[in-house]
Amino acid sequence: MFGRSAWIAAVLLLLAAVILLIARSPIALQSWLDQPRRSFLLAQGANPDVVRMTLPETKPLSAVAELGRKLFFDPRLSGSGNQSCASCHDPAHAYAPDNRLSVQLGGGDMHQFGVRAAPSLEYLYRQPNFSIGPDNPGNESVNLQQQASLGIQAPHVQKTALGTKAAAGNLVPVGGLFWDGRVNTLQQQAGGPLFNPLEMDGGTPAILLAKLKQAAYAPDFVQLFGPGVFREPTLAVAEALFALSRFQIEDASFRPFSSKYDAWLQGRARFTAAELRGYLAFNDTRKGNCAACHLDHVTRDGLPPLFTDMQYEALGVPRNAGIPANRDPHYFDLGLCGPYRTDLKQQTHYCGMFLTPTLRNVATRHAFFHNGEYHTLAQVMDFYALRDTEPQTIYGKDSTGKTEKFNDIPPAERGNVDVTDAPFDRKAGEIPAMSAQDRQDIVAFLQTLNDGYSANQHPK
Ligand code: HEC
Ligand code: HEC
Repeated sequence: MFGRSAWIAAVLLLLAAVILLIARSPIALQSWLDQPRRSFLLAQGANPDVVRMTLPETKPLSAVAELGRKLFFDPRLSGSGNQSCASCHDPAHAYAPDNRLSVQLGGGDMHQFGVRAAPSLEYLYRQPNFSIGPDNPGNESVNLQQQASLGIQAPHVQKTALGTKAAAGNLVPVGGLFWDGRVNTLQQQAGGPLFNPLEMDGGTPAILLAKLKQAAYAPDFVQLFGPGVFREPTLAVAEALFALSRFQIEDASFRPFSSKYDAWLQGRARFTAAELRGYLAFNDTRKGNCAACHLDHVTRDGLPPLFTDMQYEALGVPRNAGIPANRDPHYFDLGLCGPYRTDLKQQTHYCGMFLTPTLRNVATRHAFFHNGEYHTLAQVMDFYALRDTEPQTIYGKDSTGKTEKFNDIPPAERGNVDVTDAPFDRKAGEIPAMSAQDRQDIVAFLQTLNDGYSANQHPK
């Protein structure tokens, strides 16, 4: 039997332990006490952690951006006279194509096939310049070749939807525009499609200058850039590209943040049961683990999530036999290591890596992945779930009749494909990380990322 004083001592000790616990990690304790309330709200489809988001400012367009808008929709700038930027980047389709083609048609005769799926132009406003390194976007002085060589030696840390911090030690390529990050600014970028013979095929700067001079908006050019602007073709083209970039940077239609998910984050909408299950599977490190790369939380600074970590991964998407360039068995689109960017050609450990795209408005797209291989989100989900467990359902067979996994990457470079991050951490015959129900639910969740949600239309 304990004496009275022993009891008092025991109680005091316990009290001290509790106080110590509260003092050491008040947040942990608070969230533990808060758990029943959070579970209750979540079960109802509501966000238990309502956030405030810092949205980009919306101001009236500058005069340069207004000119950029006119250029963006002007088909006369193309060689065929039929194609503007909006032909492949349609504002009614989140600035992506409105058709089901894997790659778009273009060129002077409008019969030339492109080589990659046209991405949405939305939500690029925080895309940093291309760099290779541990979490240091924007550091332009790094020597890409040197950093890339270091990258080979750095061990690959697993990425999970819970802790992307552990992976931050990796030396990884990040940022840039296009599927391979080969340009940094929207201004630089617009010159690509404008003169690409497979796209707008605009000819030479001199040809473009002649068209600009005759356009209805020619006086805007002179007013904004001075009377000398039409004297030098390269100058006129540079100003046109500048105007195009200002339109994309300033116009709020490139970053509406008006999805159901945005409303949910801010406590103004509730998920349906399927959307909630999908959201949980998207974040579950043993199921989709999607959020490891397609970040879905508000940043520490309160910026809304863009559903990309802006990094590169080799997922081993199957070869798309529908792309004419792929008829040549020796042709491979390997993203970071070429052929469309050339500076990292020697860095074969990057072959097959493509930029992680945003998933905002992804349910409005008709062609998925860099090669547009898939045309429905259900197909994309099957790829993520079955790539390793049932590869025979994803890939074709090689000449010996064996399923040829990662058939859009040459055999020597197939080791680059991500096989460590869930849901890719399985072997043939094992149970997929996501059940058929999980996959369906994740698609329901992805649909909450479409802009244009109105809380009135869909009562809470
Ligand atoms: C024939 C179709 C087509 C036309 C016309 C076109 N683009 Fe594109 N656009 C694409 C394709 C395909 C890509 C991806 C190319 C790649 O990754 O190599 C792309 C990529 C982009 C990107 C990079 C987006 C990202 O997520 O990295 C921007 C910005 C862009 N285009 C702007 C424009 C502008 C501005 C114009 C008009 C001057 C234009 N495009 C005309 C097909 C087109
Ligand atoms: C390891 C990082 C990573 C993980 C995990 C991941 N993704 Fe991706 N995702 C990518 C990359 C990289 C691409 C582009 C690959 C390509 O085109 O070759 C991509 C492309 C996509 C696309 C096509 C988008 C478009 O515009 O074409 C969808 C849809 C998608 N992911 C959904 C998901 C879902 C759902 C999950 C979870 C089941 C998931 N991703 C998990 C990196 C990842």
